[in-house]
Amino acid sequence: MSFRPPKGTDDVLAPESQAWRRALRLWDELTTRYGYPPVMTPVVEATELFERGTGDSTEIVTKEMYTFADRAGRSLTLRPEVTPGVVRAYLQAGMQGAWKGAYSGPCFRYEQPQAGRRRQFWQVGVEYLGVEGPTADAEVIELGYRYLEAVGVPDLELRVNSLGDPECRPAYVEELRSHLRSIAADLSADSAKLIDVNPLRALDSKTDKPLLGDAPKPADRLCAACRRHHESVRRALDGLRVPYTQDDSLVRGLDYYTRTAFEYVGRGLDAAQNAVGGGGRYDGLAEALGGRAVPGLGFALGVERMLLSLAEPVDPSLGAYLVSETGPEDAIAAVSLLRREGASVDFDTEGRSVKAQFRAARRLGAPVILVWRGEGRLVDAQTEGERREMPLGEAPAWLKAR
Ligand code: HAM
Repeated sequence: MSFRPPKGTDDVLAPESQAWRRALRLWDELTTRYGYPPVMTPVVEATELFERGTGDSTEIVTKEMYTFADRAGRSLTLRPEVTPGVVRAYLQAGMQGAWKGAYSGPCFRYEQPQAGRRRQFWQVGVEYLGVEGPTADAEVIELGYRYLEAVGVPDLELRVNSLGDPECRPAYVEELRSHLRSIAADLSADSAKLIDVNPLRALDSKTDKPLLGDAPKPADRLCAACRRHHESVRRALDGLRVPYTQDDSLVRGLDYYTRTAFEYVGRGLDAAQNAVGGGGRYDGLAEALGGRAVPGLGFALGVERMLLSLAEPVDPSLGAYLVSETGPEDAIAAVSLLRREGASVDFDTEGRSVKAQFRAARRLGAPVILVWRGEGRLVDAQTEGERREMPLGEAPAWLKAR
């Protein structure tokens, strides 16, 4: 067979997929605890949604979208991110006031693939709409932080900044633009191109970092309302004991952010791909999509990057393997009983030898091997240092207590 997955896309099989399952389970648990029900939107949307939402001066929109015409000639795009779709769904459903949603699913960006930078990648994220107070920002930022802690991302660092709002940003952007023009001759071609279209993005440049030390920073030019908002967010994070650093050059790669912007960084990762996630407030996004004014914020985390940063292998999720001495037809009822009682058990359906079944159990990393000797008989539970017989009916409780 000569088929391979398209460049920058991956198959995920066990044991790697065990880490995925654990991460996605933790995501469900944590978002449930914080009151975020699931929201599902299409993987494919009208191209204009991203042009207007994500922003037509961003690299995502200018260089990285998978855009195609459907059979009726409509321009559609595989979503490069989830946020504009969720805001569209909120507006379309006629929702009012505070609304929360958590998502998990694939996104697509035509990037130069490398470890942690894929063309199809998986985001988990939340959006919290219809809220403008700084406590909402603190809740959202804390949720992402606690989740990454629970997953076990090592050396986790949170960076926060404020990008201002329509009150203070235009004057700041003009000031930054003049500054960048004054040093344009020394800037890289990429940053020089941004001076007219989106000077804020130039602050993000890794190449030009040494030249940008004197550039005015958004946090120094905030209006009083934005400054108060940012200070409240920081105070709330202090109160929640969520450690962060104020990063004046954090601007993010999307156009819609106002006020709060943040990133979660795993210091163990490669510098170019070290953001495991990011987000911020986007109080103007709903209007940019042609809807009414709805403030909101959220974040998204890249699951591949998150898992790449984990050193520890994940435990196999299988609790036990049942080796049958009397064939598969006889064993399946015993396995079914254990499963219905909540145990995670696998067995051989092919009638292979007892020796081959033991080998399979070890290959799957089952911590317990149950030996089934036939209807109504005892199971022999074998673990590393222990061996005991018990009636089948007692096995579920015994497995659970281990
Ligand atoms: P973003 O920073 O573009 O934000 O993406 C969020 C995360 O997705 C990144 O930090 C990274 O972990 C992961 N990611 C992005 N591109 C790739 C890629 N090519 N390969 C692997 N992982 C990738 C957003 O998408 C915003 N929608 C976040 C947001 C939600 N802001 C407000 N609400």
